[in-house]
Amino acid sequence: MTRTPVNVTVTGAAGQIGYALLFRIASGHLLGPDVPVRLRLLEIPQAVKAAEGTAMELDDCAFPLLSGIDITDDAKTAFDGVNVALLVGARPRTKGMERGDLLEANGGIFKPQGEAINAGAADDVRVLVVGNPANTNALIAQQHAPDVPAERFTAMTRLDHNRALSQLAKKLGVSVTDIKKLTIWGNHSATQYPDLFRAEVNGQVAAEAVNDQAWLENEFIPTVAKRGAAIIEARGASSAASAANAAIDHVYDWVNGTAEGDWVSMAIPSDGSYGVPEGLISSFPVTVTDGEYSIVQGLEIDEFSRARIDASVAELVEERDAVKALGLI
Ligand code: NAD
Ligand code: LMR
Repeated sequence: MTRTPVNVTVTGAAGQIGYALLFRIASGHLLGPDVPVRLRLLEIPQAVKAAEGTAMELDDCAFPLLSGIDITDDAKTAFDGVNVALLVGARPRTKGMERGDLLEANGGIFKPQGEAINAGAADDVRVLVVGNPANTNALIAQQHAPDVPAERFTAMTRLDHNRALSQLAKKLGVSVTDIKKLTIWGNHSATQYPDLFRAEVNGQVAAEAVNDQAWLENEFIPTVAKRGAAIIEARGASSAASAANAAIDHVYDWVNGTAEGDWVSMAIPSDGSYGVPEGLISSFPVTVTDGEYSIVQGLEIDEFSRARIDASVAELVEERDAVKALGLI
């Protein structure tokens, strides 16, 4: 049976994450090995030529699932009929830039993209924001797309989730597949809280399996939360292949569902669960069934975890208030 291709739009397509992401989308890793895709690449005018070069390479792979590629510098064209929108392109922080400047510069990107999604996206559109500050950029885009259900706007904390799995597996000498129910709470920033008190390793509470509070507090949490900065320091550029891989994981699970007895971390609009103010785009433990995610309910939150979740959520409130003050939402 021939299926209609799914329209996947990638912004910042000529950037380093774009380069690591597009080939995996085209080879079927984003949606599944039997789902044809049509790619729409959005770039700023100066980078359209580079995106054309990437498109030439995509052509040269002769991917059976890739039904076509459009390249544009116009957001309305890029998001017309979009089913999956990967908002990767963002304004990086440059020397002398304050946090407010960064939020303002990104508001100039995510506001018109939200409007374009509102104007033209398909009814089933799913949006993943990767560009930083991802949670707040997702909030800006969402606020300018009032006709799209709010829960379709998500931000990426899956890279943090995968980083935490890997650090924990190393510490315990187990496989990442032995670990279940790990959660990243809060913001994709250094305040995020990777939670081992609800995670399980071969059925045992992960924090108990570790049995080393000093490692948990002084090594594990800071290593995961500051891994992005450590990669920049080591590579001279921010994470790209691992970020692209996490974007693939996020969308694949959102579309195809999470495994029985496990959950994943996604930054999604809060419904007020776990004391996170409604509407903030914050990371939670989620399961996905039939293409719809839900926050895992009923987890008991200990005091140690509560303080850390609250600190990250407080930062999200600050970011939201800052973009509000700038008139961006
Ligand atoms: P990059 O600088 O290599 O590429 C960004 C691309 O975006 C550039 O090609 C640029 O021309 C394009 N761009 C800028 N404004 C645009 C606009 N308005 N429309 C379309 N394209 C636009 O950066 P990168 O390494 O690919 O990273 C992209 C973003 O992802 C950064 O904000 C980075 O901080 C973020 N990031 C997030 C995570 C996460 O876990 N959430 C992880 C890694 C990186
Ligand atoms: C990461 O977590 O690797 C990135 O968000 C770091 C960054 O600032 O781009």
